[in-house]
Amino acid sequence: MGATHRIAVIPGDGIGTEVVPEGLRILEAAASAFDFQLDYEQFHYASADYYTKTGTMLPDGWFDQLNRFDSIFFGAVGWPDVVPDHISLWGSLLQFRRHFDQYVSLRPVKLLPGITSPLAGREPGDVDFYVVRENTEGEYSSIGGKIFEGTDRETVIQETVMTRTGVDRILKYAFDLAQSRPKKHLTSATKSNGISISMPYWDQRVEAMAQNFADVAVDKYHIDILTANFVLHPDWFDVVVASNLFGDILSDLGPACTGTIGVAPSGNINPERKFPSLFEPVHGSAPDIAGKGIANPIGQIWSASMMLEHLGETEAAAAVMTAVEDVLAVGGDTLTPDMGGTATTKTLGEAVRRQFETNT
Ligand code: NAI
Ligand code: MG
Repeated sequence: MGATHRIAVIPGDGIGTEVVPEGLRILEAAASAFDFQLDYEQFHYASADYYTKTGTMLPDGWFDQLNRFDSIFFGAVGWPDVVPDHISLWGSLLQFRRHFDQYVSLRPVKLLPGITSPLAGREPGDVDFYVVRENTEGEYSSIGGKIFEGTDRETVIQETVMTRTGVDRILKYAFDLAQSRPKKHLTSATKSNGISISMPYWDQRVEAMAQNFADVAVDKYHIDILTANFVLHPDWFDVVVASNLFGDILSDLGPACTGTIGVAPSGNINPERKFPSLFEPVHGSAPDIAGKGIANPIGQIWSASMMLEHLGETEAAAAVMTAVEDVLAVGGDTLTPDMGGTATTKTLGEAVRRQFETNT
């Protein structure tokens, strides 16, 4: 009998509650095909309903409760009619990211069959890379302040924080990932021409880390031309590593270049496994289509594949993606409306599960 993985499941709000069951459907199929156990428990906090009942997004004991799990499988949080977005986000997801030291934000950027890229003439295979974003420090520090408010001398300062520990650990993660891929190519996002202290430091740490990875080809671009190259030459990239702010921008731009937001997944990862990592689709709760049963479940299913990879179930993770690609390649009515079809969340989720069972 294989390993047992303990998973906390948090559907959240809106279409989160519709796509999470489709993720669980494929996870269950994967567990029985690849002989491992999934021991999961659902939590209904981190949602507008919970907030309405309790006045908070999370209960007091959330940290100890979730810390017992190997991973967190998350839907989406946010229902702006009931809870302001800064409260729902800061009160839940951002707490998880900080307290569980999920310092890697990992987003695959891959053009799947059956999906039209907004970049003209691009085919599956042309776009297949990862954005690795530093998720805890950098430009998003709260060090700084305001003085002379309301006067002519009004002054605001917010500092960028780069620690050697923080920079080296994200670089190591990105180099390891690049080394594990056929192209073994790492691109660093910088701006050392304009930001003259922190970014030259980042470049210097990239050079130092590269010494440990002789087989990885390294290049770097300033963030301005790098964004242009994502659009003009997406085939140039394999693993792109970036500070918090640059990574935030690149990790939305990248998936946007591969079509619908409904398919994009992400991992918030603590690589040392000291704390649980969290896997979720890139999209939010989509209030405009929530309750209609037409949300695209592929982002959630792909997140399930990333979670399996993290849990060491590499073959199962790959088989999930093969099933997704096979179903999307058939296209037509099997697809949800955002991809041009007429399918519901459930029928597409079920099609992926059936394909998975046929393949395995
Ligand atoms: P959104 O991602 O929820 O929706 C943007 C647009 O994409 C909408 O038109 C929606 O219908 C469409 N869309 C999103 N996912 C889809 C799917 N799976 N299938 C088909 N269409 C899909 O972003 P929006 O509208 O800016 O935010 C709505 C709420 O979600 C807000 O409360 C926001 O704070 C929250 N949010 C939460 C995130 C998270 O939990 N990580 C991430 C982004 C937003
Ligand atoms: Mg963002």
